[in-house]
Formats: sequence, C-alpha cells, structure tokens
Amino acid sequence: MKIFIDTANLEEIRQAVDMGILDGVTTNPTLMSKEKGAFKDILKEICRLVPGSVSAEVVAVDAPGMIREGRELAKIADNITIKIPTIPEGLKAIRALSAEGIWVNATLIFNPMQGLLVAKAGATYASPFVGRLDDICHVGMDLIEQLITIYANYDVKTQVLVASVRSTQHVIEAAMMGAHVCTMPYKVLMQLMKHPLTDSGLKQFLADWEKVNKG
Ligand code: G3P
Repeated sequence: MKIFIDTANLEEIRQAVDMGILDGVTTNPTLMSKEKGAFKDILKEICRLVPGSVSAEVVAVDAPGMIREGRELAKIADNITIKIPTIPEGLKAIRALSAEGIWVNATLIFNPMQGLLVAKAGATYASPFVGRLDDICHVGMDLIEQLITIYANYDVKTQVLVASVRSTQHVIEAAMMGAHVCTMPYKVLMQLMKHPLTDSGLKQFLADWEKVNKG
C-alpha cells in the first residue's frame, strides 16, 4: 500500500520524506488555507521534495473552469495530480484531463457508484472519505471494501485512495483490505510507528549496554 501524507505543511512533508516511506502528498483548499505563502510556490516545493503524486485541488465547479485550472496546476510539475470534486461537471473534467495524460484524483467520494463513475471517466485515483462517513454514523471503511470489490470485478485500473483518515485503525484496515493508497495526517503517520514496548525495550537495551565491559 502506498503511503501519502495529507498536508500542505512543508516541515511535516520533509520529516516524512526523510523517513524514506513517503509515496505522495494530498492537499485540499482547507489544508492550503493553514499555510503561509503563495499556494503555487508551496505546491512547487512539495513537488520538488516528493517524487510521487502530489494532489492539488481545483476550486471551479464547472467543467470548463476545472479543466482550465487543472491544466494550469499541471504546469507546476510533472508529478502534480489534479483533484476534482465528484460531481457531474467533475466527471467531464476528469474525462478531459485524463485524456490529456494528466493524473486525476476524484475527491469527496461517499458512495460506491460515485467511485465506479469516476473510474469510468478515467480517474487515476478515487478518494473515498472514510472519517467523514464515520462522523455521520456510517462505517467509512465499508465503502473501501465495496470499491475494492467493484474495481476488482471489472479489472479497473483506478486506484482506491483512502482519505479522511483519522486513526491508525483506518490505516490497518485499509492495508488489510488491499487499498492501493492511504493518505493520512502527519500525526497518524507518526502514530503508526509508536509502540510502548519498542520504547521500553530500547530504554532497557541502552541501560544494559552501560553495564557492558567496553574495554
Ligand atoms: O484530503 C482530503 C481528506 O483527507 C480530508 O480529511 O479529516 O478533513 O475529513 P478530513
């Protein structure tokens, strides 16, 4: 499973790159609004730091506007992926941009048929939002299972990108289900590496090493 980080914060991205496990980045207008600086400069720097897919979201809601914005954003770097909302106008934009060879991430997916339609339109990634479904008393991960099954039934090439991840449990389940990609906040990424037995075990090893006759 590819690991993406869901942030536009350069420091968090640098940390994740240095750990050597980062496959890509997802951003959205909300994440962008938390950072200082021109958003295109931030995206350029993210694309320089991360060799994999970097999602940048359009804000137009009509197909011609999305296509125009998508083409502009795609000029920033070869690894830009255009994030398009899963609405009827979005399908037209996904079709047009993907036909031009631009990677597209269909965002704000909340039901499996939205996932099938964006795949038919040619999306590179489909992003179901699991945390936001959990928020309204659904089981977000059920949607991941449904999408993986549907894509496998028809040998669909679109990758399931698990988004709106809130916990390590989401990540574990995504990997168990065989999701192609999971994007997560920096905090969740760091929690994946945490175990109290690792910390106490290391502490003990270091304490015992002090007793070793090093001469
Ligand atoms: O990148 C989109 C998605 O991951 C947003 O997550 O936590 O705002 O639902 P959240």
